[in-house]
This record gives sequence, structure tokens and C-alpha cells, in this order.
Amino acid sequence: NIKACIFDLDGVIVNTAVYHYKAWKRLANELGFDFTEHQNEQLKGVSRMASLNLILGWGNITGLSEAQKNELADRKNNWYVEMINQMTPAEVLPGAREFVRACRDASIKTAIGSASKNTPTILNRLQLTPLFDAIVDGNSVNTPKPDPEVFLKGAELLSIAPANCVVFEDAIAGIEAAKRGGMKAVGIGLADTLKQADMVVSGLAQMTIDTLSHL
Ligand code: G6P
Ligand code: MG
Repeated sequence: NIKACIFDLDGVIVNTAVYHYKAWKRLANELGFDFTEHQNEQLKGVSRMASLNLILGWGNITGLSEAQKNELADRKNNWYVEMINQMTPAEVLPGAREFVRACRDASIKTAIGSASKNTPTILNRLQLTPLFDAIVDGNSVNTPKPDPEVFLKGAELLSIAPANCVVFEDAIAGIEAAKRGGMKAVGIGLADTLKQADMVVSGLAQMTIDTLSHL
């Protein structure tokens, strides 16, 4: 039975993908190329440096030093932070705040498990920080998803065994991380894409506490 819900942030609680896309696109344009929203799908759930490497590949840009890559990633992140600093609580995805609250009311622990180093800023902007018993993000994790580290750390902080945890994820790598960690996984998106998930819903608005007992 489920004693903890661990939520990915981007694409589950809030749609930051659009801001990531704008900032990466601006960087690509400065470097003299462009990429599509379709290509942007491949960046979901992927860490900042791994995203940069994919994008540089699309622009056929090779041979940059680590220092140059860090400068590019910082440049993108500054634009991204400018945008997320304008976010309001109205941008929380439909049903997300309500479902997290329902978990708490049912004495189910709640945590965030995200690759983003901007997690604290985003949660504060959305006024969601107090709704989570633990927050594990890109600042506290060494190995990115599909490694289960981010979710296992969350379970440990909550003192709940992985088998009693369910992860909510929109990225294939995130579902894989949950399964590798011995947890249940609810996919947010399309069943065709999130094949490893125990169940798939289009968003947290579709979730109820009762649904958790069927996992
Ligand atoms: C999430 C997003 C990715 C993003 C990553 C790192 O996984 O889905 O698109 O690249 O976080 O985010 P950050 O805010 O640290 O650059
Ligand atoms: Mg995500």
C-alpha cells in the first residue's frame, strides 16, 4: 500500500518546458541555428548539461571546452531564471495542488524528485514549498534519471520503503528511474510513450486517493 507520493516537477506540477524551450532556442539562435518544438520533446527530464550537448549536436557545433560549455549553460539558465521569476501560483497545472493536498489529508507523505537546480525558486514562486515533506532536486543528486538516486533519496528522507512509494513522472527516463528504484510509477502523458508505467493519466486532475489503492 502507498505511503508516499513523489512528484517530478517539470511537466507534472508545472509546465516549465515552454520556458526551457524559449531559453534554449535563444541560445541556439545566438549560435546561428534553430531547433523545433518537436526536438524540444527530447529535452524533457534531461539534465542541463545533457540538454546542452544534445542541442550543440543539432547545430553541428563540436570541439567546445568544458569552460565554454559551462558559459553557454549559464547564459541559458540566466534567461530561464528571468522567466521563472515571473511565474505565478496560477501556473500550477490543473489538479496538482489539490491532489498533493489530498495526499497530505490522507496521511500520505509528499516529496519532489526533480533534476532541476531551479526547483526551490519554482516551488516558492508557485507557493507550493510547504506542501512537500521532502525536496530532492538537481542540487542534491549526483546521478541523473534514469538512475533511481533522486527518488531513493526522497524515500529515505520520508522514511518510507521504496515499495510503498509511487512516483509521478512525465519523462520516460523518470519512469525508468522509479521502476529501477523498486517503486510504483504513474505516467503523466501518453500510454504509448510511457510504456513502463503502472498506469498513465493525462494529468494530476485525473488522480484521486482511491486510485492509489489500485496500484
Ligand atoms: C527537468 C526538465 C529538464 C531540465 C532539467 C534541469 O528535468 O524537464 O528540461 O533540463 O530539469 O533543469 P535546470 O533548471 O537545472 O536547468
Ligand atoms: Mg518532468
